[in-house]
Amino acid sequence: MGAATHLGINLGDYDAVIRTLIPHYQELIGAAGAAVGALTRTAPAVVDLGTGSGALAQAILTARPRARLTGIDEDAGMLAMAAKRLRGRITTIHGNFETTPIPRCDVVSASFALHHIRASRRKAALYRRAYAALTRGGLIVSADCCLAATAALQKNHRAGWLAHLRQNYSPARAEGFLSAWAKEDVYFTLEQEMALLKRAGFKVEVAFRKTCFAVVVGLK
Ligand SMILES: C[S@@+](CC[C@H](N)C(=O)[O-])C[C@H]1O[C@@H](n2cnc3c(N)ncnc32)[C@H](O)[C@@H]1O
Repeated sequence: MGAATHLGINLGDYDAVIRTLIPHYQELIGAAGAAVGALTRTAPAVVDLGTGSGALAQAILTARPRARLTGIDEDAGMLAMAAKRLRGRITTIHGNFETTPIPRCDVVSASFALHHIRASRRKAALYRRAYAALTRGGLIVSADCCLAATAALQKNHRAGWLAHLRQNYSPARAEGFLSAWAKEDVYFTLEQEMALLKRAGFKVEVAFRKTCFAVVVGLK
């Protein structure tokens, strides 16, 4: 399923609509880009998984203007948007990031993409592949929904997400988005994400946390 169909939107509207769907979207993208700015390397090789329309790749260029970007996505329409946005600054690979080899790099990045991996053993496999692809001192950074540790907090965060959707959508449409995504996306707790990264060999930092959203960084 293409990204736009999954989100229930038109592809051309993606950049405008994604902000109405995901609370703190721009802040999360900015924080993930800034995490790459902490690298000592000035021209890091970056592989962005599920690059979509290239928002995170662009934020990385803001932090590291000489970054060499590769974006992997299984949606050709999204990759075309990324190529247009980044005007020749990104090499695109049309493929599944779970099976496409990750080129040797200094950064593996992802935003709102890894929740498409439905099983923890598959996510663990991706983190191991990322670790192997990274140079020493490199990092993986992912911005995504990472659930709270308790059911009560999870419920509270879901209510906040619904309130965000309600700023632009009817109650039925807002609830419909969350119900549809719950069938397709898999969110792990922040604790589980950190444990998976540690098991792959990374040292882990949380660069940003607001309600159920986080930017998690794994350092090699
Ligand atoms: C919600 S969009 C996020 C796009 C972008 N990173 C952003 O932050 O706006 C998820 C993207 O991941 C891509 N994607 C999901 N699963 C994938 C997979 N297994 N392999 C490659 N791309 C995938 C989708 O095609 C889509 O472009």
